[in-house]
Parts: sequence; structure tokens; C-alpha cells
Amino acid sequence: MKKVFLSLLVAGTASLMAADGAAIYKKCISCHGVNAEKPALGKSQVIAGWPAEKQIAALKGYQDGTYGGPMKALMKGQVAKFTDEEIEAVAKYIEGLGK
Ligand code: HEC
Repeated sequence: MKKVFLSLLVAGTASLMAADGAAIYKKCISCHGVNAEKPALGKSQVIAGWPAEKQIAALKGYQDGTYGGPMKALMKGQVAKFTDEEIEAVAKYIEGLGK
């Protein structure tokens, strides 16, 4: 029993360490574009190249409902389950897309 718990713990830690912005961003491509070059659903701002801090502020704001426009509920659904590490990883990835 103890062994099972430990290996779960290790697996959990490994997935945390591997918060991979490119992998996370795959969920966003359908709306924001491969290079974050599109206004999502014709509504959002183009986010490619936004500084990571600006992305993080927006994504955390969607999580807690303090940021967004008329379609913020949709984005809340996209990011609701993300950890801070995942938000940071995807934010840095999108920042790099604008360059
Ligand atoms: C189903 C389509 C869809 C998906 C998938 C999606 N988004 Fe969005 N995103 C939108 C829309 C629409 C908005 C504008 C929402 C609003 O009114 O605030 C938006 C807004 C944003 C903004 C803020 C831009 C602004 O206009 O203020 C960021 C940053 C963002 N999305 C990042 C992401 C990330 C990161 C993912 C993947 C984890 C993602 N989005 C997935 C549709 C989507």
C-alpha cells in the first residue's frame, strides 16, 4: 500500500516538473491559432508575444473572474484547472510565439 502511494506521489511530482508550455498550448490552438496569431473566435486580442506577466495576470483573472470581456466564462472553463506552474509555463510559451 505504501509503495503504491509513493509511486503515485513520484508520478505526481514528475508531471508537475514537466509543466510543458508547448504541450499545454495545444489545447488553445483551435481558437488562438498555432502561433497565437488569431483573435480567438474573432473576439479576443491577439496574444502572441504578450509578456508572460500579462498572460499570467489575464489567465489568473479568468480563473477568479476578475479579468475578461463578454466571453470570459469560456476562458474560465479553459484555465479553471490549471496550477500556477501550468499557467506560468503556457504564458512563457505564448510570449515566445510573438518573436
Ligand atoms: C474555445 C475557444 C478558446 C480556447 C480553446 C482558448 N481560448 Fe483563450 N480566449 C478565447 C476568447 C473568446 C477570449 C476572449 C474572452 C473574453 O471575452 O475575455 C480569449 C481570451 C484569452 C486571453 C486574453 C486575451 C484578451 O482578449 O484579453 C488569453 C491570455 C487567452 N485567451 C489564453 C488562452 C490559453 C492559454 C488557452 C489554452 C489553455 C486558451 N486561451 C484557450 C477563446 C479560447
